Amino acid sequence: MELGYYDGQFRDINEKVIPIDERGHQFGDGVYEFIRVYKGTPLALSQHLDRLERSAKALLIELPFSRTDLEKIIEEGIQKSTLEEADIYMQVTRGISPRNHLFPDTKAELSMTIRHPRQMPDEAYEKGISTLLLEDERWANCYIKSLNLLPNILAKQAAASKGCKEAILVKDGYITEGSSSNVFVIKDQILYTTPATKQILCGITRTNVLACAKEEGIQVREQHMTIDFIKQADEAFVTSTSIGILPIARIDEQHLSSTRPIIDKLTNAYQIFREQQVHIQS
Ligand SMILES: Cc1ncc(COP(=O)(O)O)c(C=O)c1O
Repeated sequence: MELGYYDGQFRDINEKVIPIDERGHQFGDGVYEFIRVYKGTPLALSQHLDRLERSAKALLIELPFSRTDLEKIIEEGIQKSTLEEADIYMQVTRGISPRNHLFPDTKAELSMTIRHPRQMPDEAYEKGISTLLLEDERWANCYIKSLNLLPNILAKQAAASKGCKEAILVKDGYITEGSSSNVFVIKDQILYTTPATKQILCGITRTNVLACAKEEGIQVREQHMTIDFIKQADEAFVTSTSIGILPIARIDEQHLSSTRPIIDKLTNAYQIFREQQVHIQS
């Protein structure tokens, strides 16, 4: 059963619960996390909660629950939902207060949804996806997983309107990341990805895929990449918690090879990593 959570209680997923003065609604004044549940276990939970803490701290939001309580709420939600495979979105906002840009004295609010997972079709992994290069119009603090996603939404929509599954964002001539993913390129057996500066969200999947690559003996370089560089890739892919490793078949009009030996190797390694993690955590 899909579930919602707000104001300290689990609720029917369709219940209307957000008050009009909720700052998440009024200003997008908050942070979020997305966690994937496999076999009843939230993958890489501690990495996600670490990032939630970092994001909240960067926006001077005090989390309304301790780490242990957050873990308990997530665990309770998974159990109540009885979903073995699930998508969990958590939002922490600066709370509820009459509209005013200045921070209110109110306590932060946690909301959460636990739903059946959204799944990319197998075909997308087999064939790879089409992507569109677009100007990165976001702010200077993209390392914060903030609720403000307007440029990301607009980019994803623009990509979709051209039949593409992801927008690859470009700032000052260099690739930053996808609208909801991190970008990787393979050239001459070396794996490249954009360095985790303030210009990108340092994906949990990115971190874990890089660790898998190192384990597999693949040389890794965190380096800024030009448009020409990515278009001349031997292989390229995007990563995120929801999609895992998803190959890129096309960047604008440039088709990439459909033979993907390093992506295949990494996909295998990441699958094993995921299964091990879920086994260890459960
Ligand atoms: C802008 C952006 N970059 C990267 C990612 C990938 O992050 P993660 O691997 O933690 O899901 C996301 C995920 O939502 C994202 O929105």
